[in-house]
Amino acid sequence: MRECVLDKDIEKVLLTGEQIDAAVKRVAAQIDEDYKGRTTKLLLLCILKGSVVFMGDLMKALSIPTEIDFMKVSSYGSGTETSGRVNIILDLHRKDLADCDILIVEDIIDSGRTLSYLTEYLAINGAHSVRTCTMLDKPDRRTVKFVPDYVGAVVPDEFVVGYGLDYDEKYRSLPYVGVLKRSVYEKE
Ligand code: PRP
Repeated sequence: MRECVLDKDIEKVLLTGEQIDAAVKRVAAQIDEDYKGRTTKLLLLCILKGSVVFMGDLMKALSIPTEIDFMKVSSYGSGTETSGRVNIILDLHRKDLADCDILIVEDIIDSGRTLSYLTEYLAINGAHSVRTCTMLDKPDRRTVKFVPDYVGAVVPDEFVVGYGLDYDEKYRSLPYVGVLKRSVYEKE
């Protein structure tokens, strides 16, 4: 694994690049199987920014035809805690939602508020179907009941970064998922 100057801020690695690759392939095979033969479009909807790394890997691992699109919402305030609000910052502007099976692609589910809100929002706006796929699931943090359709890995309630996930916009490019040292975010 290549070394990065940010490795020194990581307490422990939760998922190596190899484990992530295996999880992506497993999830992609499930999706291929579930959506094969459909006449509607499979639209992979990446929720910016954290999901962009998983999105790139997942779309390459799928063998069925897909289209891609992007939304950006905010659920976290600054720092490490959720704010409780979901605001749409970049919306989906498509006229073909009735012909789209939307698969929302997320890097992590925490409280569940973002995906709970988005699945309802997209259904109300006329999507043919809406399912969810997350690389990481942190079920211990749920404040609303939400069960994703596809999960790469379940992680404990620790501050995880890497593979798209950030702390103050850093660590997204790490090719693994790790737990951030407390000293990094407690000194501020
Ligand atoms: C994270 C993550 C999800 C959301 C999950 O995004 O990517 O979208 O929070 O949290 P929830 O289950 O508590 O709603 P974030 O707001 O950190 O934005 P980012 O992807 O741009 O880093």
